[in-house]
Amino acid sequence: MSLKPLLATLRGEKLARPPIWIMRQAGRYLPEYREVRAKAGTFLDLCYTPDLAVEVTLQPLRRFDLDAAILFSDILVIPDALGQKVRFEVGEGPLLEPVTAASIAALQPERVVERLAPVLETVKRLRAALAPDKTLIGFCGSPWTVATYMIGGRGSPDQAAARLFALREPQAFAALMEMLVASSVDYLVAQLQAGADVVQLFESWALNLDDENFASHVIEPNRRIVEGVRQKVPGAPIIGFPRGAAGNLARYAAQTGVDALGLDYATPLEFARTHLPAALPVQGNLDPLRLVAGGDQLDRRVDAIIAAFADRPHIFNLGHGIVPDTPIAHVERLVNRVKAG
Ligand code: CP3
Repeated sequence: MSLKPLLATLRGEKLARPPIWIMRQAGRYLPEYREVRAKAGTFLDLCYTPDLAVEVTLQPLRRFDLDAAILFSDILVIPDALGQKVRFEVGEGPLLEPVTAASIAALQPERVVERLAPVLETVKRLRAALAPDKTLIGFCGSPWTVATYMIGGRGSPDQAAARLFALREPQAFAALMEMLVASSVDYLVAQLQAGADVVQLFESWALNLDDENFASHVIEPNRRIVEGVRQKVPGAPIIGFPRGAAGNLARYAAQTGVDALGLDYATPLEFARTHLPAALPVQGNLDPLRLVAGGDQLDRRVDAIIAAFADRPHIFNLGHGIVPDTPIAHVERLVNRVKAG
């Protein structure tokens, strides 16, 4: 077995027990995170202060026997670095000054990597701080998901603002997506060069698109990012997480070229087992609320997920981010069960 279990799994090795990490593993369910967050100033200050970002990235690994650290940052640092106004309001989530067809041309893609230098410094320090068996995961938001926030100005249940903008302003939308593909490639390459072992593409809003728009807004930009990153960093391991892709999952996996597919919790285990290429590594897919509730149902579902992927490379994870009211004891129970066998 190679030194890092999670990387070995991404390379197609089937391990006796799946490696595990948890989406949003650094966050508000940890009192030590809330403490750092309180003294950091704004959320973006926390992302751009390497001392603090390193600290919160490492916090979950001190408590739990996790196989990976994920860089502490956010998908919305790219719009911020492009020059859009981005802020995070407690209780409201992200708020952005929505882009218009006219304002897109004034964004500054050429400055993205330079403006994100503090995040890259965090990656370098994490590389130096992590034990050799721990995988360091970098990430960015996929272009469509980031565009939904840039156009809508905030999260929304149906992404209607971005969907309409794409239909009514196809040229401005294409220019924005083009800019996001190029910036994401540069940013991910810089993360890999700074020491990330693998990068994940968060396509959190892969739902609500018809199949034609799924192909153009999700598959094609993700494919181009995979291709662009691998041109500069040959063989770079990439995980795609197209949340809500449902019937489009197999197509996404086949056409983007990702090494592994993140599965949301609504993906039926049987569908994943039978409709995805047999050797394709998968990651997921426990419902985060099962981790909040805990008890026997949690144990049973953990066992069912591990059993469903017994014959393919599998990275255990949640099917979406851990939520703030998750009891720490339940996370310990989960990690111990996945590790113990
Ligand atoms: O531990 C990790 O996973 C690394 C850090 C990380 C954060 N956000 C920190 C964060 C990662 C990988 C993200 C990704 C992210 N950010 C996504 C994709 C994954 C997903 O959940 O679908 C999205 C859509 C965002 C945008 C975003 N950032 C939202 C919608 C919010 C508000 C919701 C919330 O949970 O409050 C954020 C803020 C945010 N990003 C927090 C954290 C820890 C909470 C803010 C705080 O602590 O004040």
